[in-house]
Amino acid sequence: MLLPIFRESKGKKGRISIQTNAKFYRSWELMAGQALHFHTLAPNIQVKMPVTSAGVKAIEESTAQGVSVNATVSFSVPQALAVADAVQRGLDRRREAGEDVSEMSPVCTIMVGRLDDWLKITAEKSGVSIDPGYLEWAADYHEDQVTIVYDTMWKATRRMAEHIAQGIRQERPSTTVKIYNAAISDKNDVITEVFKSKGVIVGSPTINRGILTSIAGLMEEIKGLKLQGKVGAAFGSYGWSGESMAQIEELLKQSGFSILIEGTKVLWQPDEKGLNTCIEFGKSYAKAL
Ligand SMILES: Cc1cc2nc3c(=O)[nH]c(=O)nc-3n(C[C@H](O)[C@H](O)[C@H](O)COP(=O)(O)O)c2cc1C
Repeated sequence: MLLPIFRESKGKKGRISIQTNAKFYRSWELMAGQALHFHTLAPNIQVKMPVTSAGVKAIEESTAQGVSVNATVSFSVPQALAVADAVQRGLDRRREAGEDVSEMSPVCTIMVGRLDDWLKITAEKSGVSIDPGYLEWAADYHEDQVTIVYDTMWKATRRMAEHIAQGIRQERPSTTVKIYNAAISDKNDVITEVFKSKGVIVGSPTINRGILTSIAGLMEEIKGLKLQGKVGAAFGSYGWSGESMAQIEELLKQSGFSILIEGTKVLWQPDEKGLNTCIEFGKSYAKAL
């Protein structure tokens, strides 16, 4: 019954979901082994497995083997992000092995309904009135990551970004540092990385006494998310008046970020001294984080 839909939608619809044995939740080998077996039963199988820590590993391995997973028992944003990362790693591995992933359809089920039910009971018991949907998102979630987002016209601000990253890596080698050019990156990807990060550093050159529109648009979106507990900083190259750094700092403050150290700006293309200033700025930021 489902196969024609499966074939017509090239694997995106018409799948049948089979769940791995719930008792295997601690063993990625057992889950991944059973997933591979289910996968061979029909072309349109989707294999359900729980997002335990073993499950995350099983999701990556199964995805790398070509199994379309359905991540379940997933109640929180950190779990959903762990699934997204595991699926991405699995798909990358499969692509690198020269396999086609275009008809795979991995999904993550976020069991909001179950969580809501439980929170309603808990809230009622404690006599508090809340909208349970807000609780997970309002949490001060972050990983040991700094995301640097910038835009540039002639690469001065980009070179600043790279040297700030260098300074952070020197000071905190275990911290993940990611750099994005806002003009050419997927906005949702950037926002996901910002959400995951403890620190967010934003850069733009000064243009007409303001900042580039890609950065202005991104900051507007970030403001709407009402993120908590994040440390911001600003940087940018300029030619004469140099307003961009202070404007970004102001936008970061309005978005609820703490500004622990003053930003950095350089005139025109940074020379060696300017690039060293950026490295030192990265180190000071990493110490303050
Ligand atoms: C259209 C345009 C407008 C600019 N307006 C300003 C300005 O108002 N104030 C300023 O300090 N610099 C201004 N600049 C200079 C840039 O900020 C400077 O060239 C900077 O080094 C560019 O950095 P980037 O290489 O990262 O793009 C302007 C440059 C351009 C092209």
